[in-house]
Order: sequence, then C-alpha cells, then structure tokens
Amino acid sequence: MAVTDPVVTDHTALPHAPLREARVPADGMYEGRRTLRRLPEGWQERPYELIDVVPQGPLIGAEIRGVDLARLAPALREELNRALLEWKVLFFRGAAITAEQQRAFALNWGELETNPLLARGSADDVVRFDKGGSATPTYENVWHADVTFRERPALGAVLQLREARRTAVTPVADMAAAYDNLPDSVKERIEGARAVHDFIPGFARFYGPERLAPLQDLFPPVTHPVVRTHPETGRRTLFVNTSFTTHIVGMERAESDRLLGFLVRQAHVPEYQVRFHWQAGDVAFWDNRATQHYAVDDYAPHRRVAERVAIAGDRPY
Ligand code: OGA
Ligand code: MN
Repeated sequence: MAVTDPVVTDHTALPHAPLREARVPADGMYEGRRTLRRLPEGWQERPYELIDVVPQGPLIGAEIRGVDLARLAPALREELNRALLEWKVLFFRGAAITAEQQRAFALNWGELETNPLLARGSADDVVRFDKGGSATPTYENVWHADVTFRERPALGAVLQLREARRTAVTPVADMAAAYDNLPDSVKERIEGARAVHDFIPGFARFYGPERLAPLQDLFPPVTHPVVRTHPETGRRTLFVNTSFTTHIVGMERAESDRLLGFLVRQAHVPEYQVRFHWQAGDVAFWDNRATQHYAVDDYAPHRRVAERVAIAGDRPY
C-alpha cells in the first residue's frame, strides 16, 4: 500500500526542523527537537547556600541533600521553595521521617488537605496507600495531577515510601515544558479554554451509590483553565489530565475528546519526565501545579505502602 500519511512522510525532516505544525496527530505524539526550558522567564541560575541540589536530568527533578526535614528554619524553607519552583519535584533519600514530621514539613507550605476518597493514615490529613495485596484497587497508575476535581487543587504533595520489597518507580512530568512545545495551532485553540474536572470517572467504580452520593455533593464537577498560570513563577502550564478532566467546555464531544486526548498524552513524552527509583524511607515533594505523575504498578504480589500529605492550593487561573 502506498504511504500517503503526512505523519510518515515527515520522517524526512532534518533534525533541526521545527516541530510539526497545524495538525494534531491521531496518537497525540509528534517528533522533533523539543524546547526544554527549566527556569521561569527572567530567572537566572543562582547557587544554593543551604542545600545540595543534585539534578536528576536537565529539566525536571532534583535530589536534595543536607536537609533535616523535621526542622526547617525560614531561610531553609525559602531555599527549598525556590528549588521546588526551579525543579518541580524534589527527592529526599533516606529521610525516614514519622507521619507527624511529614505533616510538620508540609505545613511550611500551607494548610493540609483531607481527602475523603482515599484511605486514611495516622491523621485525617494523611493518606495511606497500602497496595500489592489482591484486595486493594489500583488507580494511581495513570498520568494525573492530584485532586484537580477540587475547586482548589493541591499546591503540592509530600509522599514517603514506607515499604516496598521491590524497587518502585514513579515518573513525574513537567507540564510547563509540555505547554511550551505544543504546536502554535493547538496553543491558539486552547487559549482561554476551560475544561471540566470530575472525580467520578476515576473513582466511581470503587464506591457503592450510598458512599458516592455524599462525595458527589462535596465535590461537584468544577472547571479550570486548560492552561493555568503558575502563581509563583508566572509560567503557563498545561492543566488537563487523564484521571479527572472529562471535556473542554463549549466544544462538541468528539472534538473535545480528540483535543483532550492529544493534550493529556503530552505527559507521556520522555523528555518531559524524570523517573524516581524509590527505596523505603525516601520522600518526594512535587509541585502539583506544574507536574503530573504516574505510580508504576509492577510490584504485585509484594506490598507497596506509601503515605502522602497534600498541601491545599489556590484556584487555578
Ligand atoms: C499520589 C500518587 C504515586 C506513587 O500519592 O498521589 O499518585 O508513586 N502516588 O505512589
Ligand atoms: Mn497522585
């Protein structure tokens, strides 16, 4: 059969050719050199005074050394916050803190969220994932940002891996880079657009109707901008995800499905990702306004226990 698809004939493009324009490929992917800009506009590379920052790649993710998470002086909090904004996800190896210390650490960034959809740990605002056994459902192995069905989705989350018999891995994707590299035609189409976010498609299958009804009252569908502006860096960030975004407001269903499919699949691009290989006692702190993550589910029949606290965020704009 003759090859007529322009997706295929484009393979002759030179390495420095611009990304393919004007046509959304059916599978949501396109090739070509990507712009991988780590720092927000106008920010300069500056040394850190109080912490060691060990990059895990050129774009996203840094291991932080030399910090006692249980005790944060204000200057240290400020430096860690700058690292969070510059690297989007921070990793603290062998932190091995108590849930109480984890809460105290996260409280440096704001109030903690409670999440009635997920299993509770040692306090109302601690979520405990205990997985690997046959009874526990898996739902975090899809690209997502946390709790975007809330009016004010989490600013960030602090997750500690408590137990895992095999090495666990969590990739985290930079959604500002994902936005930067969208074809111009797509950027124009989503400028000013809003999308509906709802917990039902992701969670309804785990709950009976009597459990679901009060949750639906608590979390009715909300709309957020498809592209949000990061409140601390001003960066534009793609803010739709597979778990919770159902459709783009005011767009015909088929068109919304196609465009949304293209947008959510940008998180799959390896250049935008860091992959963190966990050991028990490691802590990750992600900026939920700027990233998505995916809990790789390859550990059964072994248990994987993690505890998470989430910091309340603001309303996306
Ligand atoms: C979460 C989550 C990822 C992981 O805590 O929100 O998706 O690797 N966890 O456990
Ligand atoms: Mn998550």
